[in-house]
Amino acid sequence: MEEQKTVASGKFEKAMEWLDLRFPATETFEYHMSKYYAPRNHNFWYLMGWLATIVLVMQLLTGIWLTMSYVPDGEKAFASVEYIMRDVEFGWLLRYLHSTGASAFFIVVYLHMYRALMYGSYRGPRELLWLIGMVIFIALMAEGFLGYLLPWGNMSYWGAQVIVSLFGAIPVVGPDLMEWIRGDFLLSGITLNRFFALHVVAVPLVLVMLVFIHFVALHHVGSNNPDGVEIKKHKDENGVPLDGVAFYPYTVVHDIHATVVFLFLFCVVVFYFPEGGGYFLEKPNFEVANALKTPEHIAPVWYYTPYYAMLRAVTYPLLGIAAKFWGLVVMAGAIIIPFVLPWLDKSPVTSIRYKGIISKWMLGIFTISFLVLGYLGTVPPSPFATLAAQFFTMLYFSYFVLMPWYTRVEKTKPEPDRITG
Ligand code: HEM
Repeated sequence: MEEQKTVASGKFEKAMEWLDLRFPATETFEYHMSKYYAPRNHNFWYLMGWLATIVLVMQLLTGIWLTMSYVPDGEKAFASVEYIMRDVEFGWLLRYLHSTGASAFFIVVYLHMYRALMYGSYRGPRELLWLIGMVIFIALMAEGFLGYLLPWGNMSYWGAQVIVSLFGAIPVVGPDLMEWIRGDFLLSGITLNRFFALHVVAVPLVLVMLVFIHFVALHHVGSNNPDGVEIKKHKDENGVPLDGVAFYPYTVVHDIHATVVFLFLFCVVVFYFPEGGGYFLEKPNFEVANALKTPEHIAPVWYYTPYYAMLRAVTYPLLGIAAKFWGLVVMAGAIIIPFVLPWLDKSPVTSIRYKGIISKWMLGIFTISFLVLGYLGTVPPSPFATLAAQFFTMLYFSYFVLMPWYTRVEKTKPEPDRITG
């Protein structure tokens, strides 16, 4: 037995030697896995990047299989989704995995981004990592929007109609731009065709490439942690960070455990609540797209609703330009403003644990605003909802705009030199 094992490991070593001469296999494995050190105090929030990777792979795989039976044609798309649900073997499962996966993607990515806000992960030397993350976020929003049109249900149609028509509010070029996006005078099968091409090929390619460079940047600078202190500052005589644990095998085993728990919860939703109470799959989408029948209340899927509420919060025309255009500006501003976070935060400390009371309050206010705006985006407009949306939009922006001031003036706690706990 022992002898057989030695022969097998000898063969493996020889094969690796052969491979390493031609490809940096061992070097890459060591650099990214066995000799990559993650801080030992990583907590729940640090699981989200891994879970986002799992969901990304799942979306790519289920997407490929859905594409095998889906027909991107204005006349046939809705029926082809019904065919997938009823006749294709396990088609219902593929579709629910994909539709629930979209919501799961946004849940883990929002938590992933929120972690960065709490622990100051966007600060130097991780500014570029943050910027790449922001581009991923925008690509993800585009991917979700494009995919939502594909089932060609009535909410798909009207949701896309509302968003595409926003571009029409841009002065001078608006109407032409809108026609260019649709590829037609109105939202039609031609629009569906191009959204399909972008959803299944162009944007996923971009996303995968961006995630790859996200990892390269991450492993170059190393992970931050809940204390916001650099583990690279204290190393032993072999150059191993004293507060680090090797990514392989320790973090990998830890992350696999989290994946099992995540997949369990995910399956509960897929098998028992795939419509997510009308938030994951909206009711009007069980009816085919109808240009003559506007749904009673058009609301985007939950993960866009905070931004949708900000879009609707603007009700006054300005400089002779319609309110819709200014709504678009506010919405785009809300999505784009986190890009400059690394340069807004002037605090001498990184993590919220050691920041002052104003930062803590502002993060709390930001959290509440985002959640309330998310809710307001799901309800029909009313004078009260509009007023509330205006108020919380101001609070949302104040978190960013006032940051250079409050991070400078507040009293912070001393940051530890080494990781605590
Ligand atoms: C497909 C989407 C994404 C994937 C697969 C992904 C993956 C990962 C992974 C695996 C990590 C290391 C583990 C962890 O810290 O959780 C990480 C770290 C990080 N990601 Fe992402 N990410 C994604 C989107 C984003 C977005 C949208 C942002 C921000 C806008 C972002 C910003 C960051 C930052 C700042 C870190 C370093 C965090 C730290 O060290 O404290 N990522 N990402």
